[in-house]
Parts: sequence; structure tokens; C-alpha cells
Amino acid sequence: MKLRYQRVSDAKRYHEILNNPNFKYISAMPGTIRDEEIFLSQGPEKRRKNIAYNYAVVHLGKVVGGIGVIINQSARHIGILGYFIEEAWWGKGFATKALKAVEKIGFEKLKLTRLEILIACPNKASVKVAQKCGYVKEGMLRKRLFIKGRYEDAYLFAKTR
Ligand SMILES: CC(C)(COP(=O)(O)OP(=O)(O)OC[C@H]1O[C@@H](n2cnc3c(N)ncnc32)[C@H](O)[C@@H]1OP(=O)(O)O)[C@@H](O)C(=O)NCCC(=O)NCCS
Repeated sequence: MKLRYQRVSDAKRYHEILNNPNFKYISAMPGTIRDEEIFLSQGPEKRRKNIAYNYAVVHLGKVVGGIGVIINQSARHIGILGYFIEEAWWGKGFATKALKAVEKIGFEKLKLTRLEILIACPNKASVKVAQKCGYVKEGMLRKRLFIKGRYEDAYLFAKTR
């Protein structure tokens, strides 16, 4: 597994991966391939403006997921992490490995001081990933996430440097 910046040409794969009814706890709404292309085309500008850094998770030359860090614009030492892996590849350690790699980028390259992960409370797989990577549960934030038309309570996991 390796990470690289996302590309516009990844749009069809992301459309396939994200249009999955089993992706219950992720706020990204499934859109069209064109929507994906527009989102992906904004990647370089978001990096230039220090807004977000999004990576493709690649395994054997194929995109199997995405992971990114969004910079908190009112507290620029804080990054908020988000990730997903295609269902066919769940349980193989990819999210854990990708999170460790992006954490290294966040702390060492982007010089962030604090990384946060907001996880919908019932999302046990994601809680496990955060715990395996050493993130500390700091609390439960009520209705913090808006996921597919519903407000969800979320655990706040974080790590500081
Ligand atoms: C959450 C997600 C990224 C995990 O990806 P992954 O590559 O399968 O993660 P890993 O293999 O690194 O680790 C998953 C761990 O969760 C565990 N797990 C999976 N489902 C679980 C469940 N229902 N209850 C408890 N643990 C569970 C796995 O056994 C594994 O732990 P282990 O290594 O100790 O066995 C993936 O399920 C996903 O993309 N879900 C949809 C999008 C999403 O929810 N993203 C997170 C938003 S915060």
C-alpha cells in the first residue's frame, strides 16, 4: 500500500468506492463522476492555500481508498483527518497503515501540532483504527456530524506532537 496525491483521473474509482450503502458513517454524499472530477480538480489549489491535503490509497497500482487532512482555518496548527477504504479491502490494515503515513506528513511536513479524527459513535471499525494508531478519545460531541441528512453524535479522537 502506498499514498500519492489524488488525481482527476481517479474520479471513476472514487465514484465506485463511495457509492456504497455500507458507507454509513461518512459525510461525503455519493454524487456523479463529474462531481468527483470537480472535487479532485480542486486538490492542487487546496494544497497551495493550505486548506486540505488529500491522498489516494493505492494497492498493487489500484486506488483502493482515500485519506486526507483538512486544516482548521481558524486554528491552523490543527488538522482534521478523514479516511475510507473500498469495502472489498476492509480488514487488511490499509486504513491503519494510511493513517500512520498521513500522520507523519501532518506532524513532520505540515508541522501540525494536533490531529483530530471525528468518528460517528457507532462506527466501530473507525474507532478501532484510531485506537490502533494511538489516538486518545477526548470526548463525545453531540450532533457534531451531519451524515446523509442526519445529525450524528461523534467521538473526538486526537493526537498531539
Ligand atoms: C473505517 C474503515 C476506513 C476501516 O478500514 P480498514 O482498512 O478495514 O481498517 P483496518 O483494517 O486498518 O482496521 C480495521 C479494524 O477494525 C476492526 N473492525 C471492523 N469492523 C468492526 C466492528 N464492527 N466492530 C469492531 N471492530 C471492527 C477490524 O477487525 C480491524 O481491527 P483488527 O486489525 O484489530 O482486526 C473502513 O471500514 C471504511 O472505509 N468504512 C467506511 C468509511 C468510514 O466510515 N470512514 C471513517 C470515517 S471516520
